[in-house]
Amino acid sequence: MNSRHCVLFGDSRKMDDVEENSVDLVVTSPPYPMIEMWDELFSSFSSKIAASVKNKEGAQAFELMHKELDQVWRELNRVVKPSGFVCINIGDATRKMGQDFQLYSNHSRITHAMVKLGFQPLPVILWQKSTNSPNKFMGSGMLPAGAYVTLEHEYILIFRKGGKREFSCAQQKQNRNESAMFWEERNTWYSDTWRLKGVRQNTGKDNLRQRNAAFLFELPHRLINMYSVKGDTVFDPFLGTGTTLCAAIVSERNAIGMECDENFADLITENIHTCAMLSSETINTRLETHKAFILSRLEAGRQIKHHNLFYDFPVVTRQETQIRFHPVLQITCENLSHISVEYSTDIKKLPVIKPQVKNTDPQLLLF
Ligand SMILES: C[S@@+](CC[C@H](N)C(=O)[O-])C[C@H]1O[C@@H](n2cnc3c(N)ncnc32)[C@H](O)[C@@H]1O
Repeated sequence: MNSRHCVLFGDSRKMDDVEENSVDLVVTSPPYPMIEMWDELFSSFSSKIAASVKNKEGAQAFELMHKELDQVWRELNRVVKPSGFVCINIGDATRKMGQDFQLYSNHSRITHAMVKLGFQPLPVILWQKSTNSPNKFMGSGMLPAGAYVTLEHEYILIFRKGGKREFSCAQQKQNRNESAMFWEERNTWYSDTWRLKGVRQNTGKDNLRQRNAAFLFELPHRLINMYSVKGDTVFDPFLGTGTTLCAAIVSERNAIGMECDENFADLITENIHTCAMLSSETINTRLETHKAFILSRLEAGRQIKHHNLFYDFPVVTRQETQIRFHPVLQITCENLSHISVEYSTDIKKLPVIKPQVKNTDPQLLLF
């Protein structure tokens, strides 16, 4: 088993090197309009943006920045396959430009652009980030009528290009079954609120410190497992440090990434080389978490009817009976445009662990 990956250094407002109808899933996070750390980048795209930021014309700057992103969404409409998904992580911005403080609703502007292109909007996920700062309030503090609520969440916007995907032949159905998630994972992942902690902020490379904004591995990993199957092609047009690519490697998907800043090359390479370990850790965590879930369910006296064929452990539904994970065996990365990943066919077995409480239920002996 193999997967293939490619990083294209270039501007994703033009995706000439990405074929039409070649992408099953997009997972990405663009630079956020009206967030100061991205002003310089947006200003480099157009002198009108630079002028409106300089002159503190907020509404104009907001619209012009989105017009640049619109070009990327338009290209996605070309490269995404019919029935493919697009997941966009975006935060709104609050900012005082000139005299007035206001919200710049990036998520609604992007939704509007995607719907205009013909993508179907699906229910969104609110990513709640924990904020530790006690001084997070904005505005007039304890005095009414002049304070603003803080932004403590970002959005994961989800779109589909056309109708439901069909899995028609036996091979496609088998692959879909092997790509399934556990029942308890489904219950958490398909909730509309994700509480995931912190984001790696520093890259350790001074020139990239301000332009990193990597998202944590868990985020693309969940989305890839929710909206694609093994062997699919995942695309991130704003690749940054390569988190989406790593999540695709671990999830046995192919990936393409685009990034305009070539200074990210070393970081992406470093991250790719952690994927063998990341794959083994991720599989272990999923299996261990499943084991803990099953134990607690059996200890609570619940029956579990089904059995996974490959791991010989109980699962709640028939749809989980063929789940299997292949750990990364070897990564060959001659250069970032040709990365090949080989997977082991020797799937990991659960360690034998006995439940802590007394229970004579024969199902528990399976552990
Ligand atoms: C919010 S960051 C994405 C971080 C990424 N999710 C990660 O985990 O590292 C946005 C990235 O998009 C890149 N970028 C911005 N505009 C671009 C464009 N037009 N084409 C390609 N890359 C772009 C930036 O250099 C930055 O690395």
